[in-house]
Amino acid sequence: MKGSIAKRLALMFALAVTLITAVSATLLRCSLKQSLEDQMQNELTLRHSVLDPVLAKYDSPEFWVGLRQKLDGLTPADERVRYWVLGDNPAYSYGGAMPDGQDWSKRPDGFSTVEVPGRDRPMMLMVETIAAMGSRPEVRFIVGLDSTPFMKTLDNFTKTLVLTSALGVVLVALLGYWIARFGLGPVRRLSRQANSLPPGDSKQRLDTEALPGELQELAVSFNGALARQEAAWCQLEGFNANVAHELRTPLTNLIGQTQVALAHGRDVNELQDLLQSNLEELERMGTIVNDMLFLAGAESGQRATELSDVSLNEEALKTVEYLEPVLHDKQLSVVIQGDMQVCIDRRLFHRSLANLIQNAARYAVPTSTITVSLVSHGMQAEVSVSNAGEPIDNVHLERLFERFYRADAARARSDAHHGLGLSIVRAVASMHGGRVFAYSKNGLNTFGFSLTSQAAR
Ligand SMILES: Nc1ncnc2c1ncn2[C@@H]1O[C@H](COP(=O)(O)OP(=O)(O)OP(=O)(O)O)[C@@H](O)[C@H]1O
Ligand SMILES: [Mg+2]
Repeated sequence: MKGSIAKRLALMFALAVTLITAVSATLLRCSLKQSLEDQMQNELTLRHSVLDPVLAKYDSPEFWVGLRQKLDGLTPADERVRYWVLGDNPAYSYGGAMPDGQDWSKRPDGFSTVEVPGRDRPMMLMVETIAAMGSRPEVRFIVGLDSTPFMKTLDNFTKTLVLTSALGVVLVALLGYWIARFGLGPVRRLSRQANSLPPGDSKQRLDTEALPGELQELAVSFNGALARQEAAWCQLEGFNANVAHELRTPLTNLIGQTQVALAHGRDVNELQDLLQSNLEELERMGTIVNDMLFLAGAESGQRATELSDVSLNEEALKTVEYLEPVLHDKQLSVVIQGDMQVCIDRRLFHRSLANLIQNAARYAVPTSTITVSLVSHGMQAEVSVSNAGEPIDNVHLERLFERFYRADAARARSDAHHGLGLSIVRAVASMHGGRVFAYSKNGLNTFGFSLTSQAAR
């Protein structure tokens, strides 16, 4: 059944119909059985009501001889109906012993059944006590009715019922299968549409208009997945272009300088200067490649591993001391607020905080103060760096954490900054189960990240 909704539905329809027909067939059979039993009892009651007064009225043995003949006459050849009169005096008895060989003279009055040898079905009996009268003692008058014809009717009815129910179940299963296949037509159409989407065109989407409501949701989700894929694809393409672009400039410089040096004879000092300059370019390229490798690791789900318990305030102080020369140029001061004891990778924390402070120092108003805030939210530490500076447009704010994204690309490309600093901050946050944030208001630009204390994970 696995793999086919139509077959599953057909099976479910068939099971439902089996259940319904089983219940209704059982009820119908019970009701027919009851009415057949009522019919038998009515016939027995009728025969008693005719004969009981006759038996009760006479006591002369001569009359009883005639009565026995009459009962013989009333008994059909196939003995479908039988009579017994049970009493102590044989002159007032009839019919011989009961078919089961039991003594029925003590049985209570009313209806009962008795098995008759040679017959499939039992005989239904009605017993009545006829009170003694004159010389006749008390006798028990029994009328028996063979239940075989009634039970045959019941059996035939049951067979017909079972056959028609089985046929009904098969028909419903077949019809159910056909209906389900017909109903699932739009799913097949949708799958054909999905199959026919051209491989090279990431802009193509499924047509949701013509679909029934239930499938529209699926198609919309599928289109959403395609859109995300397209966005990821575009990002990847842009990223490749960015990497190529970032590496092209230092490579061009290296090639150019080397060609010039080869073309004109240089003395040792000039060659040393050239090598020094080339080394710087190579170091820049090395930094980009290392950063890229670090980001790729974080993106593939790498977590922080070199964990230690630290005071964030103490660690932030070390970072600021290390960056003192950068701050000195613009005569900037740094204030560190708050503290929290956490278990994190301190090396990664320094790297992120340094990136944020370096950015802040680059964009801060000269002689202003940079604020480093350390706020605790349960097991999460929120680290933010604010500086006074030009407001940043929301369009940029949302994208600054992307690799190679710079608010002022033209200007930024000309210097040594590649636009990877904030993506590294984001990678460090994700390696600690945290996130990044940025906002610009009241002349203050704030960039930050959160870290989850790793021991608590
Ligand atoms: N404090 C800030 N004030 C204003 N703009 C900022 C600030 N911090 C970052 N930005 C903007 O975000 C961009 C991306 O920053 P990011 O640190 O990722 O790259 P970068 O500093 O240009 O280069 P890198 O950090 O690789 O040397 C910057 O180019 C700048 O436009
Ligand atoms: Mg930076």
